[in-house]
Amino acid sequence: MDTVVVYESLWGNTAAIAQAIARGLGNGAVALTTDRATPSVVERARLIVVGSPVHAMNLPTDASRASATAKVYGRPGLHADVSHPSIREWLDNVPPGERYCAAFETGIRGPLGHGAARAVIGRLTDLGCVPLDEPHTFTVALVTGSAEPGALLLGGQEEKAMHWGEHLAAALAAQGPEGVHAP
Ligand SMILES: Cc1cc2nc3c(=O)[nH]c(=O)nc-3n(C[C@H](O)[C@H](O)[C@H](O)COP(=O)(O)O)c2cc1C
Repeated sequence: MDTVVVYESLWGNTAAIAQAIARGLGNGAVALTTDRATPSVVERARLIVVGSPVHAMNLPTDASRASATAKVYGRPGLHADVSHPSIREWLDNVPPGERYCAAFETGIRGPLGHGAARAVIGRLTDLGCVPLDEPHTFTVALVTGSAEPGALLLGGQEEKAMHWGEHLAAALAAQGPEGVHAP
């Protein structure tokens, strides 16, 4: 697998964005939950794209995930899925090495800080990854009457994600087939 998209998603919104990015990347790119994106999968990838919801302006923590399961955030009947490790935990097991990376987050529109994707890029850069693009934010509504996974996404976000995937594929191709260089 040349490119993998790895995501954490409690209500399916970050998952839907991850799948749209993988469609845009094409060429066999897949969107994987954190438990499927094992260290050996990461080691084989030339580009990893990592996505997370924003919780308290940063990556979700055990505490924020627990609070999400305890409360209904405008998603009646839809329970938060915390069965996969968080991106924070997953990052602890990413093997160091030179590869390209990109990060995205989902968060609500407005003045609240959006620090999850920047935190991911910081960690990946420390491990030797080279960012192919700036972190991207995809926007969700605070509440919805629907219990469908992904229902919080505002209109046009999946299209925006697919186009970003296309852009990343082109940026990767422009680096040439050998090695990892600063773009
Ligand atoms: C505990 C908690 C804290 C949150 N904090 C923020 C925040 O600081 N900024 C923000 O934009 N969104 C915040 N949100 C909204 C989440 O980003 C939103 O639930 C997420 O994008 C949904 O994605 P998912 O369905 O993939 O989990 C918070 C949500 C929860 C549950």
